[in-house]
Amino acid sequence: MEKFIVAGEVQLSGHVKVNGAKNATLPLMAATLLSTGVSVLHNIPQLRDITMMQDILTLLGAKIYRENGSLIIDTTNINKEEIPEHLMREMRASVFLMGPLLGRFRRVRLSFPGGCAIGPRPINLHLKALEKIGAVVKDRSGFIDAEAVHLTGGEINFDFPSVGATENAMMAAAVADGTTIIRNAAREPEVADLQSFLNKMGAQITGAGTDTIRVDGVARLAAAEHAVIPDRIEAGTFLTAGAITRGDIVVDGVIPEHLFTAIDKLQEIGARLDVGSGSIRIRGGELRGVDIKTLPFPGFPTDLQAPTLAMLTIAKGTSIITETVFENRFKHIDELGRMGAKIKVEGRTAVIRGVPKLSGAIVAAPDLRAGAALVLAALAAEGISEIEQVYHIDRGYEMLEKKLQGIGAKIVRRSP
Ligand code: EPZ
Repeated sequence: MEKFIVAGEVQLSGHVKVNGAKNATLPLMAATLLSTGVSVLHNIPQLRDITMMQDILTLLGAKIYRENGSLIIDTTNINKEEIPEHLMREMRASVFLMGPLLGRFRRVRLSFPGGCAIGPRPINLHLKALEKIGAVVKDRSGFIDAEAVHLTGGEINFDFPSVGATENAMMAAAVADGTTIIRNAAREPEVADLQSFLNKMGAQITGAGTDTIRVDGVARLAAAEHAVIPDRIEAGTFLTAGAITRGDIVVDGVIPEHLFTAIDKLQEIGARLDVGSGSIRIRGGELRGVDIKTLPFPGFPTDLQAPTLAMLTIAKGTSIITETVFENRFKHIDELGRMGAKIKVEGRTAVIRGVPKLSGAIVAAPDLRAGAALVLAALAAEGISEIEQVYHIDRGYEMLEKKLQGIGAKIVRRSP
């Protein structure tokens, strides 16, 4: 398996551009199933999760090809409403296909999804939402069968603002008879991006980005063209890389409003940020410990918890990080301990006692964002580090080592 070799203690400098957002692209690809025709998505990164979604859509009958940074998706001949189990296990985001397949065929069959090892990832909120608009869901020992003779508008009140469940509900409700109101909806920018794509397809949806979304169902949707929003998590990861290495970098192609809590936190930690309209400059300063609680948007993003925790291992003083969104998102902590970090975990809370410096070590990426955290730690550590299982990192960061090399990092990818 491929690994990264990193020589630490290099101050990053220069410009780095972020790609289109993985977590916007995946639901948008699923949404194309609601139309028969050729949709075009621009600004699409080359990531394992996106290739996997392409494979699933192709298995369902779509014809997809990539032209530079765009995906051309022809969903005229979708002829299956069953998602193959082996692909479901590979990637949790396959669950986004439920809403569109229910919308297109009024039935869908899939096994429980897989995904990163960041805690049990139930889909009860997805199923409850679809039942509220007419789906009858049956659990057939590990498989789910959902059928809806009629999809009719209804009231969906989420116990928790689940991103995926909000997106599935929007996609199915878009072609239901009547109006659906989704309350306690997820407010992530990726939800708003899905609304704008669905409306380009002819849907009538308002309110995405707030906690209440209104969907007036229409008879059918048409193929459409859309450029995906920038990846706020990739942007936040690079900003953190600038801070942890006390460098001076500019992250280009961002929408700062998608990152304001992360920006505030980086300033509190001691980095200096100049926020422009489409780019953010960060200069590392003396890092000091802070307290962080991850929350659904617009709170501090759970996807930046691991990279930020890595940075706090060498901040002055003690930091407390509480992960309220996922149950088991501290898998980077043991690996950081091998690099000399001093961290204690009690349930969903990690207490980090800053140390002057980390030392390079051989570590393994346990999941996508934990892997990114280990790369950042290695960039700042004394000596050489090896990061194994980089396939986790490739799920969400396109050629991370190339982008980091572009701003001065000493990092190479090694094949076995
Ligand atoms: C999306 O996952 C993102 N993935 C995640 O990014 C992100 O961390 C997460 O939203 C939160 O922002 C994509 O968009 C592809 P949730 P999703 O449903 O939709 C529980 C990354 O690193 N829950 O908001 O799966 C769930 O277990 C990935 O890029 C239920 O209990 O997140 C979790 O604890 C990781 N029942 C919490 O809600 C449900 O039916 C948040 O999940 C659904 C979710």
